[in-house]
Amino acid sequence: MRPVTDWNPESYARFAALRLRPASDLLAQVPQDLPAGPVIDLGCGNGAAGRLLRNRFPGRRLEGLDTSAAMLAVATATGSYDLLHNAPIEDWQPDDAPALIFSNAVLQWLGDHAGLLPRLARHLAPGGVLAVQMPGQHEAPSHVLARTLAREVAPDRWNAAHDRAAVADPETYWRLLSGLGSVTAWETTYIQHLPPAVDRHPVRAFTESTVLRPILDRLGKAQDAGFLASYDAALDVAYPRLPDGSAVFPFRRVFFLLRV
Ligand SMILES: C[S@@+](CC[C@H](N)C(=O)[O-])C[C@H]1O[C@@H](n2cnc3c(N)ncnc32)[C@H](O)[C@@H]1O
Repeated sequence: MRPVTDWNPESYARFAALRLRPASDLLAQVPQDLPAGPVIDLGCGNGAAGRLLRNRFPGRRLEGLDTSAAMLAVATATGSYDLLHNAPIEDWQPDDAPALIFSNAVLQWLGDHAGLLPRLARHLAPGGVLAVQMPGQHEAPSHVLARTLAREVAPDRWNAAHDRAAVADPETYWRLLSGLGSVTAWETTYIQHLPPAVDRHPVRAFTESTVLRPILDRLGKAQDAGFLASYDAALDVAYPRLPDGSAVFPFRRVFFLLRV
C-alpha cells in the first residue's frame, strides 16, 4: 500500500481562521481551575492552537504531540510550546499526569474511540480535563461525494472499512465517558463562506488538505485528474457557487469535554 503523504502545512493553513474557530470554541468550555500538571496539545499539527492554549494557561508547561514532521516544524517556529514530541497518539505515555489533554481536529484519524478515549482519560491528573473536537461531516455531500467517486474510479482500492464513519454522535461520547467523570457533549454546524479558488471548487480547496489526502493517496496519481474533475463537478451541484465564485460550505463539528 502506498504510504499516506505527509501533511502540507501551507495548504492546511489556507483556511486558518475557519479551522481555528472550533478550537477556540472548545477551549472556551475548559474550566480555568485545572489541577497541577502540563497542558498537552494532542495532534498539535502546525501549532495553530498553541498560542490560544499558551494565552489561556500562562506559566504552565505546554507540550505538543504529532506524527507529521512538516507540521511539527511549523509548530516549533511558533515558539508556543515548551516541548514537542514526534510520536503517535496511540503509543503516547505522559511523563507527568496532564491537567488538560486538548485535541482539535485530530482523533477522527484514529480508530477505536471506545478504547482510545478512556485510555487518554486515565492519563489525566485528578480533576483534569480531556477536551476534544472532531469533524462530523461523514454524511455531508463534501465527504459522501468523495467516497462515492473514489469507489467508482478505483473499486479495487476501496473496501467497506473506507466507508465507515470515524466520528460518532455527541451522545455516543457522552455515554462512553460519563462513567469516568462529568461530561458535556455538543455539536455545531458552522456556515463557512469559502472564497473563490483557482482551478477548483472552493470546497475542494478546503477538503484537499484533510479528508481528500488519504483518498488521493489510495487512488494513485494517475487517477487524480479524472477524480478531481468529477469531484469539482459534483460539488458545483451540491454547493452551487455564488456569482463571485465563492461558496457556502456548512461544516458540522462534534465536541466533548470530560472532567475526571
Ligand atoms: C487536521 S490537523 C489538526 C492540527 C491541530 N490540532 C489544529 O487544530 O490545527 C490533524 C493533525 O493530526 C496529526 N495526526 C494524525 N494522526 C495522528 C496520530 N496517530 N498521532 C499523532 N498525530 C496524528 C496529523 O499529523 C495532523 O497534524
